[in-house]
Amino acid sequence: MSGIGKVTAGAPRSVRVSGWGSYVPERVLSNADLERLVDTSDEWIRTRTGIRERRVAAPHETTATLGAIAAKRAIATAGLEPEDIDVIVVATLTPDYPMPSTAALVKEAIGNSSAAAFDIAAACSGFVFGYATADSYVRSGLARHVLVVGAELLTRFLDFEDRGTCILFGDGAGAVVLSGSDEPGGGMAGLEMTTDPDGAYMIWLPSGGSRSPASAETARRGEHFIRMEGRETYRYATRTLATSALTAIEKAGWTPDQVDLFIPHQANIRIIEAVAKGLRLPLDRFFVNIDRYGNTSAASVGIALDEAVAEGRVKVGDKLVFVAFGAGFTSGAIALEWTADPTDRLRAASVEPVASVRAPLDWSSVDPIPPRLAAVLDDPNGPPVPLDDVVPGEPAHAHTEEPS
Ligand code: ACO
Repeated sequence: MSGIGKVTAGAPRSVRVSGWGSYVPERVLSNADLERLVDTSDEWIRTRTGIRERRVAAPHETTATLGAIAAKRAIATAGLEPEDIDVIVVATLTPDYPMPSTAALVKEAIGNSSAAAFDIAAACSGFVFGYATADSYVRSGLARHVLVVGAELLTRFLDFEDRGTCILFGDGAGAVVLSGSDEPGGGMAGLEMTTDPDGAYMIWLPSGGSRSPASAETARRGEHFIRMEGRETYRYATRTLATSALTAIEKAGWTPDQVDLFIPHQANIRIIEAVAKGLRLPLDRFFVNIDRYGNTSAASVGIALDEAVAEGRVKVGDKLVFVAFGAGFTSGAIALEWTADPTDRLRAASVEPVASVRAPLDWSSVDPIPPRLAAVLDDPNGPPVPLDDVVPGEPAHAHTEEPS
């Protein structure tokens, strides 16, 4: 039986963030590692993007397992049990499979039996779109507690011969729980969401869908990797992030200088700097952790929120703005008042960073790590990997072991 729609007490007086959490894989991929794969330099990557390193998921990890750990931490922070969650929303552009949904797998991994679970496809804006969706369920009284997870395993969808994309992205997950409250005030005060299909092919992943089902030919063409028009995306991002944030702030009845902290999608430090300039605010009003994780797409705002709270940058009563843009083009911003006690995060300290999802007994996946990436991970101090060293589709090493 689904947990949704069983609430009889009516709509709550407010909808608030009750829990939050994140998870990033242990393995670090540095700019120096990428220098071995493509014609790039640490200096170029740092100055043009602000990225120093990013995380890479281990072979046994999937988007669902990353998301499940962040989810368990968010549920623990909220002081809830997995069974208390009525709806699970997972935002991702790198699902475990086209079907079933990654949310269904996260539901199993966290040990919830009753929630309705589904995915949201809004690329890097997914966390904001997911938050808005969750807020609507709770605000209407249809659900009491909704879990929103942004989870990505982007390193498995990157062409490690394309220096325009492979340096940008990393793996990770962030989550929040939204809950109804009998107290008035707090939570989302202003929302803006837009979608501009003129940018549909500025960032895209050509194969694996109905237009171009995956085949040996699509793999040969490298159409299972993310493609991006960097400059056009950059121009769109700088414009839309400032506009979306400002619109959400105005809808909340605030002015930009009243916002205590912006938690922007971490795509490029220069984009964040341009937004700060556009809003005539100092950069220290924007939380930045792109240097350590790169662009984790739908996970980035959730990871940044968790770190901002942990670093003491968020207090009860603070005005926050989450703002993101992504493929679609999508963009979205939420102006919200923070109500949770930041020390609640200590409740998640005992959550182990492990999760697993069931796989069919009569099936096992191919090696999930792209061969060129595997060559660097397996031999951290090795020489540059020549472009023709690894034949596409033929893994350099077997990567099927489970964690001990
Ligand atoms: N290392 C060294 N040189 C590089 C690299 C690299 N990794 N990548 C590009 N270059 C070169 C280019 O070939 C070009 O050389 P040329 O002048 O000889 O032609 C030069 O550097 C400048 O290239 P630009 O593309 O103009 O570089 P730019 O300063 O725009 O930076 C970047 C590129 C980082 C991709 C930037 O455009 C950007 O951040 N765009 C936004 C991307 C983004 O946010 N995408 C995520 C969207 S979210 C989602 O939904 C997935």
